Amino acid sequence: MSMPRLSSPRVLASPWKNASASFTPKHINLHVNYRGLSTVLRPSPQQQQQQQPLQFTRRFSSPVESAAEGPQDAVAEKQEMVVETEGIPAANRTENIPPKVKKFLGYIEMEFVVKGRPAIAFYGEFWLRDNCQCPKCIHPDTRQRSVDTFKIPQDVSANKVRYESRAVVVDWSDGHTGVYPIFWLLAHQNKSPERPYPSKPGPSLRRFRKFHPTDPNSPYPTVTHEEVMTDNKAVFDWLEKIYDWGFCFVEGVPVEPEATQKLIERIAFVRHTHYGGFWDFTADLSFKDTAYTTEFLGAHTDNTYFTDPARLQLFHLLSHTGGQGGESLLVDGFRAAQLLKLENPQHAKALYKYRQPFHSSGNEDTCIQPAIQYPVFVTHPTFKRQLYQIRWNNYDRAAKVDWSSKEQEEWYTAARHFNEIIQRKDLEIWTQLQPGTALIFDNWRMLHGRSEFIGKRRMCGGYVNNDDFLSRYRLLKFGREAVLRNLGNTYNSESNPNMLF
Ligand SMILES: [Fe+2]
Ligand SMILES: [Zn+2]
Repeated sequence: MSMPRLSSPRVLASPWKNASASFTPKHINLHVNYRGLSTVLRPSPQQQQQQQPLQFTRRFSSPVESAAEGPQDAVAEKQEMVVETEGIPAANRTENIPPKVKKFLGYIEMEFVVKGRPAIAFYGEFWLRDNCQCPKCIHPDTRQRSVDTFKIPQDVSANKVRYESRAVVVDWSDGHTGVYPIFWLLAHQNKSPERPYPSKPGPSLRRFRKFHPTDPNSPYPTVTHEEVMTDNKAVFDWLEKIYDWGFCFVEGVPVEPEATQKLIERIAFVRHTHYGGFWDFTADLSFKDTAYTTEFLGAHTDNTYFTDPARLQLFHLLSHTGGQGGESLLVDGFRAAQLLKLENPQHAKALYKYRQPFHSSGNEDTCIQPAIQYPVFVTHPTFKRQLYQIRWNNYDRAAKVDWSSKEQEEWYTAARHFNEIIQRKDLEIWTQLQPGTALIFDNWRMLHGRSEFIGKRRMCGGYVNNDDFLSRYRLLKFGREAVLRNLGNTYNSESNPNMLF
């Protein structure tokens, strides 16, 4: 499989070629060419007005490519202050093109060349000092911030800016020399001082593939135990399938709890809950929850009663003796939500809007409730309208009080519609679990259930946290270097490792 990588930008190298000058009533612009980079030297308006000795802002532009995504919008001209950029561009990467730098009151503008086009970026001045990337400010081993933010003078300001070996170097007024690699600046730019980006989410922030249970040419996403246990590339493939399809089977798992637990731990440690860590259980109602009975279980998501529901859930049937039944059910909640919106946008809106209380109170010593109430369709707080989690569990829903009878009617009508959609034959994925084949699914997306059974079943499995799943997936997909380069970056792009939800 191919692992996405940042592409290598190129710059044509050539020696100084020529220089020319143009004159306007207030400006003298010097145009020079250095190694294929055209450079304009010109004084700032203040220098002209105050008749100071001329200092120049260097401007470079050249056809280059870069993987970094950046805003391309034109920005209204502001008053320019004196900043110099120095340094000689070398070698052959975007990072070797010095940006044009201008300083304004409270923020700094840098103009990069990305994919052959100018890309203007803004950085708050105090923010830039606080986020210095030098080894004194970011601990090289722990990657933690070591600068004491609140010891930086509030009015800290950039005295001088220069370019040195793929980084912008800033002499700050507090005496510190700040270092900002170009790749880091590109990954942390703002669209304008007033409007941070992303201003709008793209339409496909959370990509997913739809599995069609009624299509015989739709094979189940599957990996083998042997590959996953021996090869990190296979783990990546496994996680990619879970992320894209919402579920995946693992074949050839030794029929024992220890091997099943080790399989989960190829992703991350097993999440403990009030039901324990790794489970190995029979339907004995050891925990007072419908999951521990032999009854039919309608499609639901787990952990609606947690502030942070488990992201993954793995089941492995170890044995089923003296009976039958107990088929496993999966329903793609994202697809069901899409259908609901298509068939009745008002119904979808009601499930986004009204928050429900959930609880887990079956055992004497627990009564778990989330810190806040959540709607059935949870949208991303930054990327509005982006659905990233389904919470659907009619068993664990408590009695909501804080809504009017009109609101109640709206929600129940919408919920009835959704409940009808998730029971459609072309959405229900029914499978019979077999010893040796584990099923893992995304509990933030897929609803699961099972048919009634008779006999004695022994089932084992466990949960994995969202953060730990995404950490593993992100690092395998993008590599540690790209992940570290983009810490905090929220630009909506497939190449941004943070755009996994
Ligand atoms: Fe469940
Ligand atoms: Zn520093």
